[in-house]
Amino acid sequence: MKINETTHTSIWYDKDQNKIFYIDQTLLPWELKIRELGSLDDTVRAVRNMEVRGAPLIGVTAAFGMWLAAVGGHNIEDAARMLLATRPTAVNLQWAVNKMLEDFHSRGLSADSRVSEKHKIKIKTLNAALEIRDLEISCSKSIGENGLHLIENLAKKKNGKPVNILTHCNAGWLACVEWGTATAPIYMAHDKGIPVHVWVDETRPRNQGAKLTAFELGAHGVPYTLIPDNTGGHLMQEGMVDMVIVGCDRVAANGDVANKIGTYLKALAAKDNNIPFYVAMPYSSYDPDTPTGKDIPIEERDPDEVRIVDGERLTGNGEQGTVNGDRLTGNGERGSLIGVAIVPEGTPVANYGFDITPARLVSGYITEKGLRRDAS
Ligand code: MRU
Repeated sequence: MKINETTHTSIWYDKDQNKIFYIDQTLLPWELKIRELGSLDDTVRAVRNMEVRGAPLIGVTAAFGMWLAAVGGHNIEDAARMLLATRPTAVNLQWAVNKMLEDFHSRGLSADSRVSEKHKIKIKTLNAALEIRDLEISCSKSIGENGLHLIENLAKKKNGKPVNILTHCNAGWLACVEWGTATAPIYMAHDKGIPVHVWVDETRPRNQGAKLTAFELGAHGVPYTLIPDNTGGHLMQEGMVDMVIVGCDRVAANGDVANKIGTYLKALAAKDNNIPFYVAMPYSSYDPDTPTGKDIPIEERDPDEVRIVDGERLTGNGEQGTVNGDRLTGNGERGSLIGVAIVPEGTPVANYGFDITPARLVSGYITEKGLRRDAS
């Protein structure tokens, strides 16, 4: 998708350099920093500290991590365990790692294979990772096509006024590779000239909505308005939301949806106001082995994510900007950010990364295979 008229993807393989590169999402929207994914350790770190995040992208990154592990002569079963331990909720991680293991095994590469054997097949293992990346791109595109008609139908009733869509967190191209899931129908509607406007939940504590969704929609020219997380219910009561589209990290066999914390409250408000609530779901996020939402592990993260807010430093006169390029974070210098503690150290904090939206609150699942009333 476009940033300043240049097309970007969140992660890619550079054939000339034989290297993997990705956008470091912890620095957006302030800085577009491209980093190399050079090793298994790099991969574990980048996923854990959310330089890459979003369920499909975590899966694709882990697939490249498995390739890097094989190239680096690691025990592949250990590499799989290390990657799976990084983030527990998004099932795409398991899905991609298992696909890579299957590919390794089908080529006779086992955990105790000698390094020389591993080297012979390393190019092929890269192909397996590239296929996973391609698959996520094509799923996102199909989700866009399959969700587009929902927006088109609403547009018919709006007499040229924009269709107002509320979204939570970032299920955009940054969370995938291209298009995004929840955003794919929105980008396609916008590109087709259908007037759309997106209400972007800021998505505390890490503010993926504010920092990433607002950034990518704005960069592509899609009209949006950033709202505090607790605003959606009011907008729905006032008739200012026509539909909700969110992404997912794991959908259980019964259709319950794990997505970014706060999604459930939006689904409740949507139900109360008769507003359609759609989940954009690539099948890489569907987990038939997890019976219900209660069985989905919910990630708990560092309390400092709630305690400390980071953003761009303001100048003394209240104008936004940098001060002589001097930008700091709460834990030392890091690019262009400054961290501010909003509560005293030691304040008890709960930081659940995800919640479960029961299937009964979901109007439909927009998948690469079409619009589904049931997740399976
Ligand atoms: O913690 P994050 O930023 O990885 O969470 C992201 C989300 O919850 C997204 O909505 C989900 O992964 C879907 S991305 C297409």
